[in-house]
Amino acid sequence: MIYLDNAATTGRKPPSVIRAVESGLRYYSANPGRGGHAPAMAASVKLYAAREKAAAFFGASGAENVVFTLNCTHSINCVIKGVTKPGDRVVTSTLEHNAVMRPLIKSGVTVDAAPVSLTDDEQTLREFETRITDDTKLVICTAASNVFGKILPLTEIGRLCRNRGVRFAVDAAQLAGVMPINMQTMGIDYLCVAPHKGLYAPMGIGMLICEKPIENTLLEGGTGVNSLELTQPDSMPERLESGTVGLPLAMGTAAGIDYVNHIGIHKLYEHEMHLCRFLYHELKKLPFVRLYAPAPASGQFAPVVSFNIKDQKSEAVARFLGEKGIAVRGGFHCAPAAHRAVGTLADGTVRVSVAAFNTTDDIKALVMAVKKAKNL
Ligand code: ALA
Repeated sequence: MIYLDNAATTGRKPPSVIRAVESGLRYYSANPGRGGHAPAMAASVKLYAAREKAAAFFGASGAENVVFTLNCTHSINCVIKGVTKPGDRVVTSTLEHNAVMRPLIKSGVTVDAAPVSLTDDEQTLREFETRITDDTKLVICTAASNVFGKILPLTEIGRLCRNRGVRFAVDAAQLAGVMPINMQTMGIDYLCVAPHKGLYAPMGIGMLICEKPIENTLLEGGTGVNSLELTQPDSMPERLESGTVGLPLAMGTAAGIDYVNHIGIHKLYEHEMHLCRFLYHELKKLPFVRLYAPAPASGQFAPVVSFNIKDQKSEAVARFLGEKGIAVRGGFHCAPAAHRAVGTLADGTVRVSVAAFNTTDDIKALVMAVKKAKNL
């Protein structure tokens, strides 16, 4: 199978990641932070090392700011429900995934979505600027659209937030590990990460990196500290990390960061963008293919291309490509807001997303299959 659905999860994990998870299971099966015996201490050391690695990679001010969660959606829920109260004003974007939109709606906040231009970041910034006011409680937006790949101007949005004294949260599911993200220079207060995507880590673990406090907890329980207290500790990361952390998965995450650092994030990104541009230009030659975003320029797009075939449903095209041995995703990608914004709400899109292991031959095979999909 040619796997081109890496925005859902990267389809091949590096051997070093697999070895790290195995090592966690084989040699570190003791509960980190629970117990003073040697195996528990060794597990704690490994967990702390994973936090340190993530903090350094994302420019966080300390390892204790790195909270391991169940996934990126859990991280986003922790921020939205931990920082806002019903009636608060929250600014977001029109390209959000349901992981942001659904918790916002459930929280009873007033949501103001800034339209994102796929071509003009200045225009996008003006839309954010008019919406971010002194009474905005939180700005939360995606780092890059999971459907159209557009990267939002995070540094500038972060600056607007700082100028207004507003907290800034980023759903980095599609960009963490793909492009450099530095919380300090970008002014990000809360970073939500899906390690199983751009960091090539296993599924089942997420990260929430906090530079500011989160007032209310989503989960309470055992934390390994202050056991005699019936209330949640204030100390980080324990305050937000109740229950046992998936240590083998955290070790896999640390190995994934090493993998990206070892090859080089810029090198990986340029390889992926080269493949996306090749695909884009090949699809552009086909009169029956509809593309929605401009050619994917480096720095402007994540390695994702969405398209449709005239008169065909995106899910039918994705199914056909699957039958031809090519894995892509069709439909709405859990992001109806983005489809509404771009005008693809009727049928969704066929989404192609590449990663380190993809090659030009993968794209050539896809283009050949797309030509056949014309007459489904
Ligand atoms: N959010 C993931 C995707 O875009 C699952 O496919």
